[in-house]
Amino acid sequence: MKTRDSVDRILAIYNDKAPLSEASTIPAPWYVDPRIAELETQTVFSKAWQMIGRIDQVEKAGQFVSAFVAGEPVVAVRGNDGVLRAFYNVCRHHAAAVVTEPCGQAQLLHCPYHGWNYGLDGSLKGMPEFDGVKNFERQQNGLVPVRAEIWEKFVFVNLDPHAESLASFLGGLVKRAAPLGLATLNFFDTRAYDIACNWKVFVDNYLDGGYHVPHLHKGLNSVLDYKEYTIENEDRYCLQSSPMVSSQDDAHREYNQQSVAVGARVQDEDLGICEDVQRGLKSRAYGAGRLSVRREAGEQLFHRLLAADLKSGLTHAAVAAD
Ligand code: FES
Ligand SMILES: [Fe+2]
Repeated sequence: MKTRDSVDRILAIYNDKAPLSEASTIPAPWYVDPRIAELETQTVFSKAWQMIGRIDQVEKAGQFVSAFVAGEPVVAVRGNDGVLRAFYNVCRHHAAAVVTEPCGQAQLLHCPYHGWNYGLDGSLKGMPEFDGVKNFERQQNGLVPVRAEIWEKFVFVNLDPHAESLASFLGGLVKRAAPLGLATLNFFDTRAYDIACNWKVFVDNYLDGGYHVPHLHKGLNSVLDYKEYTIENEDRYCLQSSPMVSSQDDAHREYNQQSVAVGARVQDEDLGICEDVQRGLKSRAYGAGRLSVRREAGEQLFHRLLAADLKSGLTHAAVAAD
């Protein structure tokens, strides 16, 4: 029986030194092997800043947003002192989720299991029927803090207490996005999609420089000036931009509704193709694929950044296991 390749060997298949004209994608096992997914949880998602909500959701005292980051339940909440703090959303009693709504407002964070109460600053305020318990320090049993920072309209958290600041992590993107005035945008609508594919399949899909647009998104393609589509790779981001062939002059609301409808249709098209790709990645017929020099530089940037994170994560894991 064929034994499974070691994680080292699977990581070594990818050559992150190849120039774009010689480069391949990361290999199929990276998208399907659960050991790679676990390594990503430890080295990518547990160490990178992750966006969990918008600041308009946590403007007033007691407003909170909750999310999962690297499989960990977290919550960010605005304190009575105006400070935004984040915590692991895990009760110090028996580990229930203290906040069970995706967002909302509360005066205290109240655990639904046995009724322990935490202040908006995470401190433990009260435990019903806990008299007589010895060697228990209430001050030592607040919610465990997580780092939280804001960029433009968005709330980010990072599980790594030693991580660089959010601004340093975002690097050149901060300056690049400044003229866009993201902070002046207002929330209009949201959609959620469950897609049966590895997260990287969907990221790859966004980073193929519009390559799939004329084939998969004929509606979207009809409004983009595809030939003028540009792709710029920087330190940790890829900027893709395309002029429109026509601009819409409708009333704002109608325009927003149309944008949401077009977005939903494009998502549906992407969802179908990503699930298809995930099936193909498991096929014995597929190992890795080549990249278009004109279109797919962003995908190579993503694959190189990921390879660097995973390889350094594996080195640290090996050192820790020694
Ligand atoms: S688990 Fe929260 S009060 Fe028991
Ligand atoms: Fe797409």
